[in-house]
Amino acid sequence: MYDDQHQKFRDYKKEFKEMLEFLELQNAEDKTVVDLGCGTGATSLYAADLFKAVYAVDVSDVMIERAKRKIERDVPNLKFANAGFLSYEHEGEPVDLVITKAAFHHLPDFWKQIALLRINRILKMGGLLYIHDVVFQFDPRAYLGKINSWISGFEKVAGEEFKTEVETHIRDEYSTFGWILKGMLEKAGFAVEKCRSADDFVSEYACRKVNELNRGETA
Ligand SMILES: C[S@@+](CC[C@H](N)C(=O)[O-])C[C@H]1O[C@@H](n2cnc3c(N)ncnc32)[C@H](O)[C@@H]1O
Repeated sequence: MYDDQHQKFRDYKKEFKEMLEFLELQNAEDKTVVDLGCGTGATSLYAADLFKAVYAVDVSDVMIERAKRKIERDVPNLKFANAGFLSYEHEGEPVDLVITKAAFHHLPDFWKQIALLRINRILKMGGLLYIHDVVFQFDPRAYLGKINSWISGFEKVAGEEFKTEVETHIRDEYSTFGWILKGMLEKAGFAVEKCRSADDFVSEYACRKVNELNRGETA
């Protein structure tokens, strides 16, 4: 159901290509990746064709099972873990890239900050964190008109059912403002190198790990 719904307005392959262009990565075949909140493999499955190793992590068994069922051949460089932002323990060397797509909004801000501290530990110094999620980039005073037009835009593209999902997202989930997220990233040892958003909602961030946090000070 997730894939059927999302494919009304998403093209996973195109998104993956656009992410690579945005990140301007060199020598992907030598790089390792953790995909946090991998879901049904929208990113991980493409990443496994390109990167040296991909660790696909999700709290939902059901989503991971669905991702595994899509695999058509042996993919020894793709490993799944049933864990979350706040519980995943990465074994082995820190990685070059952490991706999180449409998942970070599941955490309220306090836990986002803790998750970012943990992501710092997963990454090599100089490594990249890519966040793709709903982040509010507009002036808060304009919230009502912005949110109403965003919801009606989704209804046009993906129908009434998805409109209800978008309303639920705004009402019950934890998207945050861009200026808050930037502060949290900096507190966790990241510098925001790039941020883009076509609609002031769906946003992409390329964040460089610039500070190694003292392990004893993080969870
Ligand atoms: C909207 S889906 C996005 C899936 C995928 N990244 C994509 O682009 O289609 C959100 C995913 O986040 C996962 N999730 C929710 N809370 C999480 C957490 N605390 N840690 C890791 N994943 C989480 C859900 O199980 C779900 O698979």
